[in-house]
Amino acid sequence: MSDIAVLHHVSKSYQASQHSPIQEVLNGVELRISPGETLAITGPSGCGKSTLLNILGTLDRPDSGSVTLFGQDALALDEQGLSRMRADRIGFIFQFHHLLPHLTALENVLVPTLAGSVKVERLAATERARKLLDRVGLGAHLDKKPAQLSGGEQQRVAVVRALIRQPGLLLADEPTGALDAASGKALMDLLLELNTEHGTALVMITHDPKLAALMHRPLRVEDGRLV
Ligand SMILES: Nc1ncnc2c1ncn2[C@@H]1O[C@H](COP(=O)(O)OP(=O)(O)OP(=O)(O)O)[C@@H](O)[C@H]1O
Ligand SMILES: [Mg+2]
Repeated sequence: MSDIAVLHHVSKSYQASQHSPIQEVLNGVELRISPGETLAITGPSGCGKSTLLNILGTLDRPDSGSVTLFGQDALALDEQGLSRMRADRIGFIFQFHHLLPHLTALENVLVPTLAGSVKVERLAATERARKLLDRVGLGAHLDKKPAQLSGGEQQRVAVVRALIRQPGLLLADEPTGALDAASGKALMDLLLELNTEHGTALVMITHDPKLAALMHRPLRVEDGRLV
């Protein structure tokens, strides 16, 4: 099968204001992700992990280098093309779940099915959402709003939401960061099980070496490169 993502010589610098020094964050990152692969990205705070993940997810652009996603040159896509790529092919999970507070668990999961190029059939999507929520142990909580769920439950809803469109690539920025150790490990086990079941490639940022060791490839950002 062809690659999910290829980054070639990706570099990114920031200059906070006109007079502040230029900060080189990424400097020649090389990365190739195969279907179904799981990668951990570790490294100290501020080393560029989120910057790298955002570039992979087309939420940010590198200053130079190339980003190929699902065989397409992501840097050549316009805003509409990028939105479609994100909606159809990429799932995101963040440290804080970003669930919509006025929607139930089930409704939150269905939000991504309302956008994108292929309108997912309503009944089929709802059926799939119910099944997945049941699969992650939330079958009895479908109609609860986020505030009525525990932190770990909220994060599981966010995982299901990220998977509802069956993305080829799932990007997770410290998904267990706000959870206690036991909930974090449970979420991690769930992500890996779903990855195996669905063949979704997973890239996860984590500060926890134990969680990183569970992935096929534990990588570290060091001096702007991946090692
Ligand atoms: N929009 C921006 N403007 C200026 N500097 C930025 C911007 N975004 C990120 N940076 C800087 O780039 C560096 C890398 O940031 P990034 O968020 O990628 O780090 P990180 O490895 O994810 O850190 P953490 O583990 O704390 O989340 C940091 O020093 C940050 O201050
Ligand atoms: Mg970060």
